[in-house]
Amino acid sequence: MKNLNILVLVSGGGTNLQALIDAEKSGAQIAGVKIAAVVSDRPDVYALERAGAAGIPAFVETPNRSLPKPERRKELSDRILALCRQMQIGLIVYAGFLSILTDEIINEYCGRMINIHPALLPKFGGHGMYGINVHRAVLAAGEKESGCTVHIVDAGTDTGPILLQRKVPVLVADTPELLAGRVLEQEHFAIVEGVKIIAQRLSD
Ligand code: GRF
Repeated sequence: MKNLNILVLVSGGGTNLQALIDAEKSGAQIAGVKIAAVVSDRPDVYALERAGAAGIPAFVETPNRSLPKPERRKELSDRILALCRQMQIGLIVYAGFLSILTDEIINEYCGRMINIHPALLPKFGGHGMYGINVHRAVLAAGEKESGCTVHIVDAGTDTGPILLQRKVPVLVADTPELLAGRVLEQEHFAIVEGVKIIAQRLSD
């Protein structure tokens, strides 16, 4: 696999980032892939600590809230796109990133931008479906199984082509928190597998 620089976008605890850091360190699963940078859209999140501990350049790029939403989204996307060009990023990984970016960056990284979602898309995706809300909705719907999805990011919300899914059972006594923890464990395998699939495609 030829060298591939990835940018990981985060907004929270960074356990999916940590799974990628550990996979890169192991040298086995994603050989040739380098986490070149981490960008968080908010300060003081543990994902930034994880990047620092791994010696990965980390940047806080907060949306400029003095701007109206469309301009705010474009201004943030332009900053991230400039960083990607400067660091020769080949793949962008959303790992819990909560800001929406513009079609411009999505088009420039068409097929080279992936997201991990904590449900079996296309169910339980879309606007407002993030974090614990997802698992609450899965339980409310009486689903017997759940899981996570790694997909290509397109202009929609959680609507791009699916790369892979990993499933977990929904148990009778499940709370949203218990289900979230079971799904998150599988996310850590899925995010690495998703990077591996794209890296393979790009090196073919
Ligand atoms: C994960 O549940 C992911 O599916 C969702 O945001 C969460 C990020 O968790 N998009 P972490 O910050 O990687 O621990």
